[in-house]
This record gives sequence, structure tokens and C-alpha cells, in this order.
Amino acid sequence: MGKISLSIGFTLGAVATVLLALAVWLTVVYTGAYNVAATDKHVDLVRWALDTTMHRSVTRRAGEIQEPERVSKAVIAAGAETYATTCAHCHGAPGTERESWAANMRPEPPELVKAAAEWDPREVFWIVKHGIKMSGMPAFGPEHDDEALWGIAAFVKQLPGMTAAEYEAATGAAQHGQ
Ligand code: HEC
Repeated sequence: MGKISLSIGFTLGAVATVLLALAVWLTVVYTGAYNVAATDKHVDLVRWALDTTMHRSVTRRAGEIQEPERVSKAVIAAGAETYATTCAHCHGAPGTERESWAANMRPEPPELVKAAAEWDPREVFWIVKHGIKMSGMPAFGPEHDDEALWGIAAFVKQLPGMTAAEYEAATGAAQHGQ
């Protein structure tokens, strides 16, 4: 008898905890209590959860991708051009600051001159192809084939350590108003 009432008590406690969590979550969702303004930075715990979710998700999915043995110079050159015209205003480039408004996005688009070193080419390819939900990172897969995406990824991986002059030479004509 004692054992049964103990397990009923435990079950009721567990159900009450779940209901309470649900009530708190619905209250946050419906009352507008969470400030979605980009001018209001996430609290550390939320930022950590979003960053970790993003990194783990990309690493897990990119691991299944087959990297081409070689990406031709012409394809990388096309990737450089795409980078200068569609990525640099958000992510910056050697000798080129990202647009000032990019720093006011949440999450902030990182400077790829530094951040590209942390990702392997398959991860860069995956991010560029699929984009990142709930951030300003667009998916380029719908408008670019895999070959073009590998060219972009290969160029992004060359950014760390690239000088402004090398970037200028690689993208020269492609830089519109930068
Ligand atoms: C409108 C702005 C915008 C444009 C344009 C854009 N990105 Fe992004 N990108 C972002 C944001 C914001 C993030 C951060 C996402 C996050 O932290 O969840 C990001 C993240 C990334 C990352 C992961 C970096 C890291 O360390 O978190 C890579 C790699 C990347 N972008 C590459 C590119 C490439 C290559 C292009 C062009 C083909 C591009 N992006 C165009 C906004 C942009």
C-alpha cells in the first residue's frame, strides 16, 4: 500500500512539474515577455544554448558530406567573386570592414577572416548551402549548385591569413562599391 501511494505521489509530482514548465513557456510565448529587439543582447545562457545548438547541428550534418578531392582554380575564382558581392557586406574581408549595420545583427555575422579557421571545409560548405535558421545567415544552395558552393567554401577557407592585396587581386573587379 505504502509503495503504491509513493509511486502515485511521484507520478503526480512529475506531471505537475511538466505542466508548470508548459505554463511558464506558454506565458513567455503569449505575453511578449521576451524582448526580441536586436538591440537587446541575449542573456548568456540563451546565447550559449543557441551557439552550442548551431555548432553541434552543423558538425553532425557536415560529417556526412563527401568533400571533392580538388576544387579547380576557376571555380575558386568564381567563389571569390560571389564572396565579394554577396558575403563581404555581412562578414567583412581582408582590408574590408563589414557594413556597420552588420554589427547590429543578432547573432552578429562573424568576421570570416578569423572565424573561417574554426570550421572545416565541409562545415563551411554545409552552412553556405543550407543557411542557419533563426539568424540572418541565408541559404545559398537554392541558387547555387554544389560545384559553385565548393568554390565559395574553398575561398572562405583561404581568408584567414590572406592580405588585403591578395583579396583585392582575387576579387578586384567584383567589388561593387566596397
Ligand atoms: C545578411 C547577412 C549575411 C550574409 C549576406 C551572409 N551571411 Fe553568413 N552569417 C550571417 C550570420 C548572422 C551568421 C551567424 C549565424 C549564427 O551564429 O547562428 C553567419 C554565419 C556564417 C558562417 C559561420 C561562421 C561562424 O563562426 O559562426 C559562415 C561560414 C558563413 N556565414 C558564410 C557566409 C558566406 C560564404 C556567405 C556568402 C555566400 C554569407 N555567409 C552571407 C549573416 C550573413
